[in-house]
Amino acid sequence: MRSFVIRRLALTMLDGVHRKGQMLSEPMSFPETLSDIDRARALFLAKTTLRQRGRIDHVLDSLIDRRPHPAGFNVLRLATAEIHGLGAIPELVVDQAIRLIKELDRTRHLAGFANAVLRKAAGKTGSGIWSTAQPSRLPEWIGSPVAEALGEEVRRRIEAAHELAPPLDLTPVNASAAERMQAESGAILLPSGSLRLSGRARVSELPGFGSGSWWVQDVAAAIPVKLLGQLSGLDVLDLCAAPGGKTMQCSAGGANVTALDVSDRRLGRLRENLRRTGLKASIECGDALDWEPGRRFDVVIVDAPCTATGTIRRNPDLPLVKAEGGEDVRKLELLQRSLLHRAASFTRNGGRILYSVCSLFPSEGELLVNEVAANMGLNVIPVDCRQFGLEPEWQSANGGIWTRPDHLPDMGGMDGFYSVVLHRP
Ligand SMILES: C[S@@+](CC[C@H](N)C(=O)[O-])C[C@H]1O[C@@H](n2cnc3c(N)ncnc32)[C@H](O)[C@@H]1O
Repeated sequence: MRSFVIRRLALTMLDGVHRKGQMLSEPMSFPETLSDIDRARALFLAKTTLRQRGRIDHVLDSLIDRRPHPAGFNVLRLATAEIHGLGAIPELVVDQAIRLIKELDRTRHLAGFANAVLRKAAGKTGSGIWSTAQPSRLPEWIGSPVAEALGEEVRRRIEAAHELAPPLDLTPVNASAAERMQAESGAILLPSGSLRLSGRARVSELPGFGSGSWWVQDVAAAIPVKLLGQLSGLDVLDLCAAPGGKTMQCSAGGANVTALDVSDRRLGRLRENLRRTGLKASIECGDALDWEPGRRFDVVIVDAPCTATGTIRRNPDLPLVKAEGGEDVRKLELLQRSLLHRAASFTRNGGRILYSVCSLFPSEGELLVNEVAANMGLNVIPVDCRQFGLEPEWQSANGGIWTRPDHLPDMGGMDGFYSVVLHRP
């Protein structure tokens, strides 16, 4: 019964994405009460289905003449994901899929159809099609700028990387916390200093959670602050701070941090993380475009709101829900430009600005930075990759760092992230 309700919730999530254009992170109504573990399981099923949608749809479309109605097709997708993507026992999965179909459509016809399709999908024919099928293509608004900047082959590699669930990365508070985590949880230490756990784990049950020895942060998201080097005693302003990964890195490095964000709800998570880790920051809620600090800082960080196209491994609903780039991307770029101007005006002469975005688009990263830097007389401080355990090929043409989901392919990949340090003369 429990596993059936979990699948029913996964299906509600898939319907929300496909039929209502709802992100998985948005609240959705589901009448049954489920534990956090069961909700997490449903989310995992929905995300696996979305990550492997290209392959799944190819298998199903090869086996049927016409798709049933969208909710029925989502049941078939979910079952195919479980069978081929997760290696679940086909008999059990098919049985539950038929029950879900019967709830949606009481005619025997659809149940009989689904049964026949799924048995074929689970059998030799389906396995053969699955093994030669291609990963989901990125929609053109994402795929075209990526291919234009990096080439068609890299676009394909990024699409392949999007099929895999990301590992869990943690940023340790200090070196001894990193050593303890390696010893107690089998985490591996990545060259840039993040800890990586493969397999699924409940974050709150990992050793060191209660004592605040680490926080969750993708290895790529942890790189930007590392580029600043020693932070001890510096006055740092984090202009787009919540939920606080970069604020906590700066605080752990000994900086005096002011953390600003426009969203009080998101700042709540920063407060909670600071409480758990015992780290300190002065928190301000406000819009960076009209907020006045009344002083200048040694370092200003702009981890700007962006298309988040570098995080599709984590958010496989993004390419489906945010179906149009155009106007939205341009609005974000305007905001990023304004935030960067603002950051420069809050930086003392001789100080530094750290700009980053979790985007695959040069128009939000390198191109935007080059334009603003030229307008404002800022200079890029080129990254010395070896100093920070970074691969030299991650260096962008203007001296920043640009990681991609197809990087670290044998270790579980990483998010797409652009970051650069600028000097204000
Ligand atoms: C990419 S997230 C920041 C992530 C954060 N730096 C971290 O490492 O955890 C971007 C943040 O910018 C905030 N934001 C967007 N527009 C803003 C504005 N005008 N002023 C201040 N914060 C803003 C959003 O609320 C969001 O929390």
